Amino acid sequence: MDLYGRDLITTQEWSKAELDVVLELAARMKRDRFSERWTKVLAHKTFFMFFYNPSVRTRQSFECAATELGGHAQFLVPETMRLKTATTAGETIEDAAKVMSRYACGIGIRILEDKVPYYGAGTELLREYAYWADVPVVNMADDRFHPFQGLADVMGWAEWFGGGPGRPDYTRLQGKKFVLTWAQGALARSWCSVQEALLIASRFGMHITIARPDGYDLDPEVIEWTRQNCQAWGTSLEITNDPVRCMDGAHIVYARNWMSPNAYQDGQFKKQEEIAKALSYQGWTLDAAKMARTDNAIFTHPMPVDRGNEVTDDVASGPNSVIYLVAENRLHVQKAVMALTMGNL
Ligand code: CP
Repeated sequence: MDLYGRDLITTQEWSKAELDVVLELAARMKRDRFSERWTKVLAHKTFFMFFYNPSVRTRQSFECAATELGGHAQFLVPETMRLKTATTAGETIEDAAKVMSRYACGIGIRILEDKVPYYGAGTELLREYAYWADVPVVNMADDRFHPFQGLADVMGWAEWFGGGPGRPDYTRLQGKKFVLTWAQGALARSWCSVQEALLIASRFGMHITIARPDGYDLDPEVIEWTRQNCQAWGTSLEITNDPVRCMDGAHIVYARNWMSPNAYQDGQFKKQEEIAKALSYQGWTLDAAKMARTDNAIFTHPMPVDRGNEVTDDVASGPNSVIYLVAENRLHVQKAVMALTMGNL
């Protein structure tokens, strides 16, 4: 299967067979991390990491990925690039993307939260770069999607229920109950990670339950895609406002805060209002009592975790927490996608 030159905006736009190829390579790379089979795949090549927003995992793991593939990752921020904006003159995306393509083997972009004026603007910017660039454009988290997080998530879940680290068994996820629950929190998080998790969990044959307070619905298009993914497998999609009973029989619990659909008003991200509203809720912290209702479920989260708000420490650091397993997998799935889309593998 030839994935060379492909953009990655969301996993939903890649076929299941293509995702399988990526995940199979990621597991091989994890088992044999510094093999000479991989360490020259990006030799002498540079990957541009273009960050509008901060990051811990994404920047670090992409930089390590480029190094481990024999290449280099260059960190870019818009403040150093004289780009045209709604209020300032400067370089167009067409020109920036075409010039960047003359230097780099691929371009990763992160843009979300306060760096976009309305929901969806981040994905639109990525698609415009992808349109003009002659090299792959990959999504390092925008306001709608976070494909590398979704790939790392599903790999971690399949490792847990399969053969352990580096030995995922994706068939073991089929028929499992995946619960995505909104959680109170002080970070007003974008929808990208939770939406990507819904898409990938439903893509791999899980029953999906979404628990959220009234007024915290996610993107209707993503919900519809999730519904279609479930229909293809014959699995269920349930949406509830009960943060307790949703846990009954769960195998995977993903608890995270996300902003309300009213977060963007008049071209601005109302972060403080969103945080105040989110913290006013009671009963939406994931704790041991809720986990006790599950079928020995794992706790999963893309991190950073808002401990004490989203989840209690004993669950976040408990024996069924896969947060570090998943975080590590960011490295391996990114290496696999970079090797296949930008490298000479
Ligand atoms: N999960 C994730 O993308 O983490 P960072 O925001 O730290 O990159």
